[in-house]
Amino acid sequence: MRMRELLVGLLICGLCEVILAAAPRKPVDVPFQKNYVPSWATDHIKYINGGSQVHLVLDKYSGTGFQSRGSYLFGHFSMRIKMVGGDSAGVVTAFYLSSQTTEHDEIDFEFLGNRTGQPYILQTNVFTGGKGDREQRIYLWFDPSKHYHTYSLLWNMYQIVFFVDDVPIRIFKNSKDLGVKYPFNQSMKIYSSLWNADDWATRGGLDKTDWTKAPFVASYSSFHVDGCDASSPQSAQVCNTRGKMWWDQKAFQDLDGPQYRRLQWVRKKYTIYNYCTDRSRYPSVPPECTRDKDI
Ligand SMILES: *[C@@H]1O[C@H](CO)[C@@H](O)[C@H](O)[C@H]1NC(C)=O
Ligand SMILES: *[C@@H]1O[C@H](CO)[C@@H](O)[C@H](O)[C@H]1NC(C)=O
Repeated sequence: MRMRELLVGLLICGLCEVILAAAPRKPVDVPFQKNYVPSWATDHIKYINGGSQVHLVLDKYSGTGFQSRGSYLFGHFSMRIKMVGGDSAGVVTAFYLSSQTTEHDEIDFEFLGNRTGQPYILQTNVFTGGKGDREQRIYLWFDPSKHYHTYSLLWNMYQIVFFVDDVPIRIFKNSKDLGVKYPFNQSMKIYSSLWNADDWATRGGLDKTDWTKAPFVASYSSFHVDGCDASSPQSAQVCNTRGKMWWDQKAFQDLDGPQYRRLQWVRKKYTIYNYCTDRSRYPSVPPECTRDKDI
């Protein structure tokens, strides 16, 4: 009898490990309300198809934004976004993770708009322990205002990866061994916002927002969240006992060969700016950048 219970127990436990480990990283379409709430200027968010899509609206009175209900310690987060079309100079759309602590951690996507027909810039940044200054800027290989594309972040104990569709455009490895802080113990909420940043965004602030073109609209769908919700202290403990979830598994601890080749392709063809190679700003190479042989 005891033997049988043991076997059943093992079987169930073995099964749940398998389920956790094999969870798909393919984003699941869920309505906005399941994972998010508006965070400001709620009248500037429009809901379409019962919240399967939302529009963020910027006019001369206000932009707007939303945030996740939960606060996560590790996971995979994505949304599909169609950026503001036409003349979007001065307008910035952001999708980021941020902790609500004083020495905060933050992982940013920022899409800087442009005059009609001129290319968007995707700027990314990583803050650890309150310190950022790790900007990278790329052009995209498509016009992000024409169609929806998937933007996602993978965050585990080993690496943070920024993806555009299936292409990794940036990797920030855990370089604790090199003395670089890594986000590991502060949960983060997911945020997105649309606002006027014409003091810096387009050609360094030279191109101003043309308010005769307002309202500016960014469209969102597929509010996929697959993270360890650490909103309560007890759950934070659970999220810290790493190794059990699919995003902790071997396949997600480093990029594979094809992914590295794609990252290289982005670096070679689309990079505009990389703090790692900015010797006037950083006379000695920032430690985390020495991991990369090819930049
Ligand atoms: C996380 O760890 C850092 C460095 O060890 C510490 O300064 C910070 O207070 C910790 N934060 C939390 C929420 O425990
Ligand atoms: C906007 O277009 C100009 C001219 O093509 C380009 O130099 C700039 O990098 C583009 N993007 C932004 C956000 O300034």
